[in-house]
Amino acid sequence: MRIAVVPGDGIGQEVVPAALPVLTLLDEAYGLGITHDVLDWGADTWLRTGVGLPEGAIERLTKEYGAVLLGALGDPRIPDMAHGREILLGMRRGLDLYVNHRPVTLPTGVIDIFRENTQGLYVGVGGTVPQGGRTGVAIDECVYTRETVEKFVRYCLGRLRDTGRTKVTLVHKANAVPNTGRLWQEVFRRELEDFPGLEGSEEYVDAFCYHLVRDPSPYQGVLASNLFGDIVSDIGAALMGGLGLAASASICPETGIGLFEPVHGSAPDIAGRGIANPYATVMSLAMLLEHAGHGAPAALLRRCLDEAARGEAATPDLGGKGTTRSFMDAVLALLERGV
Ligand code: NAI
Ligand code: MG
Repeated sequence: MRIAVVPGDGIGQEVVPAALPVLTLLDEAYGLGITHDVLDWGADTWLRTGVGLPEGAIERLTKEYGAVLLGALGDPRIPDMAHGREILLGMRRGLDLYVNHRPVTLPTGVIDIFRENTQGLYVGVGGTVPQGGRTGVAIDECVYTRETVEKFVRYCLGRLRDTGRTKVTLVHKANAVPNTGRLWQEVFRRELEDFPGLEGSEEYVDAFCYHLVRDPSPYQGVLASNLFGDIVSDIGAALMGGLGLAASASICPETGIGLFEPVHGSAPDIAGRGIANPYATVMSLAMLLEHAGHGAPAALLRRCLDEAARGEAATPDLGGKGTTRSFMDAVLALLERGV
């Protein structure tokens, strides 16, 4: 398997290179046969050449690579994030990465949040009507096709069943957004019939956010449309203890290709200081290994990460005095002992 590694911008340039020795160590210890190429997509290349996602990139990724490991995109010199949209949305749509999985790990257990990643309010259907030199009317349409909702829901329910989960919650707002809301409810109820081991429940997104913050312990699996899933998973990241801990996988179940990335952005406020927390990026690498069928090294890596995060090498966002470097030294030392 070959991995395309895109450090990107800001702290992406710090946390991704910091994660790569882990890959090398596990590859040697477990004979995984994984190789990687580092690609220079990001703000610097965009400013130099005007290119975000190079021509033919999607075809190359599809043919030559099994997965992408991404840091973050975002640079103060490109305020509208044009390069980031081209690269990120280009990969999401081009590779049809319609399942976005963001696990929330809490002392009470793991909540698997699944967000539909390609449609809904993010399809880019809409427009504006100018009025006297200003925006007079603004429209963003929420679009869902039954085909996409069905394949998304079926895949997520299958994943939850296969990982031994017994409860799943659909998050929606069908009272106020009735058309797509009803489609989601219809599909969810229908698909659940094929998964007798899963007990389904439905919650309005506002009530769900309230309940999640007050007591996350009842939740195991959560399914949400694009916008709701985006917001709900950031609440999940906050519950975990910060963006430095939140990892994600965006996958296309049909082709198996996946994009693995921390949830956080390029953090220009701390970029270049060597204190960015690499936990979320390395946890995304663990998700990549798991997805590629390497469950044992993935589990070891997760254990070592958690142990390092509890120790002296933890970075300042976790209340520690460590650096990106010292944290990864601790993780690598634990891995050496564990393999
Ligand atoms: P951000 O996630 O970059 O930072 C938010 C806050 O969390 C900052 O105070 C930052 O220092 C802190 N933080 C984030 N990751 C951290 C880590 N690993 N260790 C320690 N602290 C960490 O979000 P922000 O500031 O809204 O966006 C900055 C840039 O990143 C923008 O250009 C934005 O568009 C972009 N962005 C890109 C994303 C992506 O590539 N997937 C996602 C979110 C934002
Ligand atoms: Mg977000």
